[in-house]
Amino acid sequence: MNEQFSKKAEAWSARFSEPVSDLVKRYTASVFFDKRLAMFDIQGSLAHAEMLAAQGIISAADRAEIERGMAQIRSEIEAGSFEWLLDLEDVHLNIEKRLTELVGDAGKRLHTGRSRNDQVATDIRLYVRAAIDDVVALLKQLRRALTDLAERHFDTIMPGFTHLQVAQPITFGHHMLAYVEMFGRDAERMLDARRRVNRLPLGAAALAGTTFPIDRLRVAQTLGFEDVCHNSLDAVSDRDFAIEFTAAASLIMMHVSRMSEELVMWMSPRVGFIDIADRFCTGSSIMPQKKNPDVPELARGKTGRVYGHLASLLTLMKGQPLAYNKDNQEDKEPLFDTVDTVLDTLRIFTDMAGGITVQAENMRAAALQGYATATDLADYLVKKGLPFRDAHEAVAHAVRACDGAGVDLSEMSLATLQGFSPLIEDDVFAVLTLEGSVAARDHVGGTAPNQVRKAIERVRGQLAG
Ligand code: ARG
Repeated sequence: MNEQFSKKAEAWSARFSEPVSDLVKRYTASVFFDKRLAMFDIQGSLAHAEMLAAQGIISAADRAEIERGMAQIRSEIEAGSFEWLLDLEDVHLNIEKRLTELVGDAGKRLHTGRSRNDQVATDIRLYVRAAIDDVVALLKQLRRALTDLAERHFDTIMPGFTHLQVAQPITFGHHMLAYVEMFGRDAERMLDARRRVNRLPLGAAALAGTTFPIDRLRVAQTLGFEDVCHNSLDAVSDRDFAIEFTAAASLIMMHVSRMSEELVMWMSPRVGFIDIADRFCTGSSIMPQKKNPDVPELARGKTGRVYGHLASLLTLMKGQPLAYNKDNQEDKEPLFDTVDTVLDTLRIFTDMAGGITVQAENMRAAALQGYATATDLADYLVKKGLPFRDAHEAVAHAVRACDGAGVDLSEMSLATLQGFSPLIEDDVFAVLTLEGSVAARDHVGGTAPNQVRKAIERVRGQLAG
């Protein structure tokens, strides 16, 4: 009974004359979500203890005891046998209490020269840093999968759209590589944010620093941080890095969502550009014929929840005076859910990219439908000396005539075409074909199959590095 009481007593309860109610306990506790930080918490504590011993603030024997206890706690957590107690409020106090049970006074000395405020800030930075590394690795895999798809279809022709109206023929490979570019910027953004995540708050203690002769650079080095946070107030209250991460994650989701929108549209039987492997789709409980693209639809839907987390975090911070406030405990769930959502989405999209089948004939037929080579005809006339505006007008007349006759530009006779401009000769038909149209856009960033191949090579170089 006594044992149980001492286990449950809050670390700070000696100051108080009455216990908090169960509701307040539940309201203020974070252990049931922040226990996810346990391994980072232990990592941070070990680095802190190593420095305390090196500085002669605790003894080498105490440090050894702390290490022994932490090793045991680690295996208990891994085995699922660690007992998390709501009464001990959060991950930090749960671990510290267990450490003290295991190693006695050495455990009680661990908190010398630090506070939960700099401790939690350190834990989250370690967590976000690891998440960034996972996200960047998955972005690489997704880019690789999309590049493989682009390579299989480097010369597969489809209509390119503006305003969702057929604009000009493009290749499907080129279209996929547009997403490869987006996800490449996403990785750059994550890595840029990582530099600001990767700074050490420990040593700020509660807010003002500590009276002990600590060595912050040593701890930073042990934990792989590039620098320390240079102002103790900022160190404990800064959550910019969490916001930046969530903003970068929101951009990833926005790109995923745009792609999802296209996949859903392309898979509609009215469009029929692609098919997505059955394992990414589900049926309907009432309509036997249905095959629904659930995965891209859900990814599109989950984008909203990540944007929501970004708004939460920004709002969480906007009214807080310096330095630490308990509000900050609310940073974790949005952050955790952002990480889970983005990682799962990237994993599933990488997998799904391999399950996309292209219906090349349908794409081609659609490209033939909307006078997609009209710009090519205008460019042709310009090359024959006509000013572009006049060429544009002549082609507009030709398109109207095609519309009336129900034919494509390439199906008009030479004589009819010459009625719109005497500059047209029989070399015009090479320009009016879909293949001629895409092949002609042969410069860096253009849709020509030749350029798509070069772009793939360039991306492969980035992915190898
Ligand atoms: N659970 C807290 C959090 O997540 C840890 C820091 C609490 N600090 C304090 N002085 N109450 O922010």
